[in-house]
Formats: sequence, structure tokens, C-alpha cells
Amino acid sequence: MTNDMTAVRRACAFGVIAGFDAVFLFLATLIFMLTFNVKLTLYALIPLPVISLISLFFVRLLFKKFKSVQESFSLLTEKVREMVSGIKIIQAFQQEEPESKNFDKLSQEYLGENISLIKIWGTMFPLIFLFAEIGMAIILWVGGQQVILNELTTGELVAFLSYMGIIVWPMMAVGMVTNVYQRGNASYKRILELLEEKPDIYDAPRAEYHTLKGGIKLENIYFSYGGQAVLDNVNIDIKQGQYIGICGKIGSGKSILARLILRIIQPQKGRIFYDSIDYRKIKIAAVRDNIGYVPQDSFLFSDTIEDNVRFGKPDATLEEIVEACKVASIDKNIMELKYQYKTLVGEKGVTLSGGQKQRLCIARAIIRRPQILILDDALSAVDTHTEKEIIRNLENYSKGITTIVISHRISSFIKADNIFVLDKGKIENSGTHRELIKKSDIYKNIYKIQKLEE
Ligand SMILES: Nc1ncnc2c1ncn2[C@@H]1O[C@H](COP(=O)(O)OP(=O)(O)OP(=O)(O)O)[C@@H](O)[C@H]1O
Ligand SMILES: [Mg+2]
Repeated sequence: MTNDMTAVRRACAFGVIAGFDAVFLFLATLIFMLTFNVKLTLYALIPLPVISLISLFFVRLLFKKFKSVQESFSLLTEKVREMVSGIKIIQAFQQEEPESKNFDKLSQEYLGENISLIKIWGTMFPLIFLFAEIGMAIILWVGGQQVILNELTTGELVAFLSYMGIIVWPMMAVGMVTNVYQRGNASYKRILELLEEKPDIYDAPRAEYHTLKGGIKLENIYFSYGGQAVLDNVNIDIKQGQYIGICGKIGSGKSILARLILRIIQPQKGRIFYDSIDYRKIKIAAVRDNIGYVPQDSFLFSDTIEDNVRFGKPDATLEEIVEACKVASIDKNIMELKYQYKTLVGEKGVTLSGGQKQRLCIARAIIRRPQILILDDALSAVDTHTEKEIIRNLENYSKGITTIVISHRISSFIKADNIFVLDKGKIENSGTHRELIKKSDIYKNIYKIQKLEE
């Protein structure tokens, strides 16, 4: 993308200026030459098109080479970045030797690319000057004879030679400008395509803003990636205020289900109802405003703890933030840090543990007191005792909200009103914990394995 922008900028700046420059310089010089001596001018022009052709060919080659030099350089810098940030892993696996050999190889490649770039430069200019000099020789030859025959003065001959020197540049410029223009044009088309790209998901014309109460119903939902069904004929009915569990093996479609409810993706078949309203009649912003979502990969910004939580509610006071963190059982951990809520996290600050990150993300999701809360495996790195504590806190913090908990752990489901067992994109079974232990083979299996682990 940046490359495309550069190409367009180059076409607009260098391309236009050099283009005008070349055209006017060429025409002006040509007119002067013709007024002096038509015959000599025609002779002098013979080698000039060759210069344009050479420049056309070599500049194209140069561009290609420039690109591979750049690519080789970015491979090299990427390697360095990777080696610095992964230095602990490299040491732990004793990969210093192979990594440094790898680096040497990339450096050699970069060197090689640069040398072949210089070779192209080195061939192009002598060739151009060779033909320019041939032009000069022709002028001396033909013009010299004319001077002897007194058809031309010595001064005019000298002037002619200077003009020849001037006209070489426009000839070279033809090749350069053509290349720059072609590239700029191709890039411009790519940029246009990107600008005209429409988001996959957008509001239907008559969508309205509704404040959701918490009822969600999925009806015959089908979703696929590249023809491969990820969710197939899924029916789920969630009543306002229920605590819902979703379990299933890795890759069974749990996260996709959460993203469908959040309307990050769109069902390919079937319908979603929020409080019995068809999803196409509700603004996407309304859905996202009313749902607190903790994604599977807990992401934190390189910012203070306070601001990371505030991201969920930009006008939140510190009291609200502390309260949300207490509910997420992370407050104690934060108070033990040197700068407490002002502690920087991420690259420039402290590194939080996986479980701490997850709980901070929960605080961020609940601070705006959403009517629906979706936790996508958001307690996987938290011990079962703390998990129970958080679930209990949540019940008090936001009474009557619909909670959807996606988890691999049966302990998350003991108190659930209804649990859906997903298997390869289909609902295998549903019911409460007690019911599923009896009727769902998958659920029973997970339960047995986890009992054994305890
Ligand atoms: N962007 C994508 N492109 C293609 N396939 C995808 C994409 N996202 C998910 N899938 C596929 O969809 C299926 C369901 O994925 P999903 O993330 O919902 O699984 P999951 O049940 O959440 O698994 P986990 O327990 O590991 O979180 C998987 O087979 C996955 O490979
Ligand atoms: Mg998932």
C-alpha cells in the first residue's frame, strides 16, 4: 500500500515535472537546431531514439532491481527484529549458531542484490553516452564538411554541439517518465479498488437503534469458510438474564458463534433475533454497544492499566474502573504493583500473566454494564477458585444480564441455566449440567477427563 502511494506520488511529482521539462526542452532545442541547419539536424537526430529505447529498457530493469533490493533489506531488518525480540527463545533452544548463519546468508543476499543493481546503473549510463557521442561524431563529420564548404560557420558548429548535449536529457527522460507513469497508473488503480471496497457488514437501510434487553435467538444458522461449513443448522434460544454455557472441542465453532452474535460476521443462512427483532432491523452499533465481549486472545494496549479498562467506557471515573476491576478479581493484583492503576503494561511496561490479562479484559468489557456479556474462553488461565469468585461477583454487579460463557472447563457450567454442546459446527446436545452428564457423550467425556485431572 505504501509502495502504491509512493508510485502515485512519484508519477505526479517527478513524472509530470520531468515530462513537461523534457517536452519543452526537446521542442525548443529542436526548433533552434532546425532554424540553424535542417540537414545537420536530421543527421544529428539519428542516434537519439536509441537513447530513449535504452533508457526505457534499463529504467524498467532498475525499478525491478530496486524492488528486490528493498525486499531483501526488509527481510534483513525483520530478521534482526525477530532475533532481538526472540532472544530468550533462541538462547533456550541453543539456536545462536544457526540463527547467526541465517543472518549472514541474508546479509550476503542483500549485498548481492546491491551489486547487481550497481551493474545495471553501470551499464546504462555508458551506453547512453556512447550513443550521445555517436551523435556528436556525426555532427562533427557532417558539420565539419559544411564548415569547410563554408555552408556553416565554426560558431554555429559549436552551438550545434552544445544543443546536442542538451537534447540527450529529454531523450533519456522519455524512458524514465514512461516507466514512472505506467507504475503510477497501476498503483492508482489498486488504490482506487481499495477505496471502493465496501465493508462486508453494514446496516440495512431501515435498521434502527434498539437498546437490547438480552434475549437472543439463533435460527437455522449456517456459516462457512471457503465452502467448508463451520456452523451448520445451529438453533439456540437464549432468554433475557440467562447464564448460558457453550462447550465443544477445539475448532467446533464456538468463537465463530460469538462473533456472529456480535455481528462481526454475518450468517450466510438463517436469522438472528435480538429480543424477537430480526437482526437486519437493528443497527450494528446498537448490538455492539449492548454487548460486553471478552475475546479469546486477551489484547491489551501499551498503555496504563487504568486506560486499558477505560477503553470500554471512555468517560469512566477512577472509582468505576476500580469497581470493575474488583468484580474481575484483579484489583488486589493491581494494588500490589508499584504504580497501581497508573502502571504501564505491554511493551514499555510490566508484563502481566495470562490470567491477569484475561481478568483486565473482563473489567474492560463489564465497565459499561452491558446487557449481554460474552466471555470467549476468557477464564482459561484463571484458577477454578478465582473463576467461581468472578462469576459470583458478576451476578451482583450486573443483575439480570445475559451471560454467555464459552469454555473448555466444565466448572464454568455447573450453575448455567442451559449449556449447548457444539460438535463440528452442529449442536450435539443442550441442557443443564445434570442433564448433559446423562445424555451427552461428548459432555460426559470432557467431564470424566477433568474429574481425573483434579
Ligand atoms: N478466518 C477463517 N478462515 C477460515 N477458517 C476459519 C477462520 N476462522 C475460523 N475458521 C475455522 O472455523 C472453525 C471454527 O473455528 P472457531 O474459532 O469457532 O473454533 P473454536 O470452537 O472457537 O475453537 P477453540 O476452542 O480452539 O477456540 C475452525 O475449524 C477454524 O479452522
Ligand atoms: Mg475459540
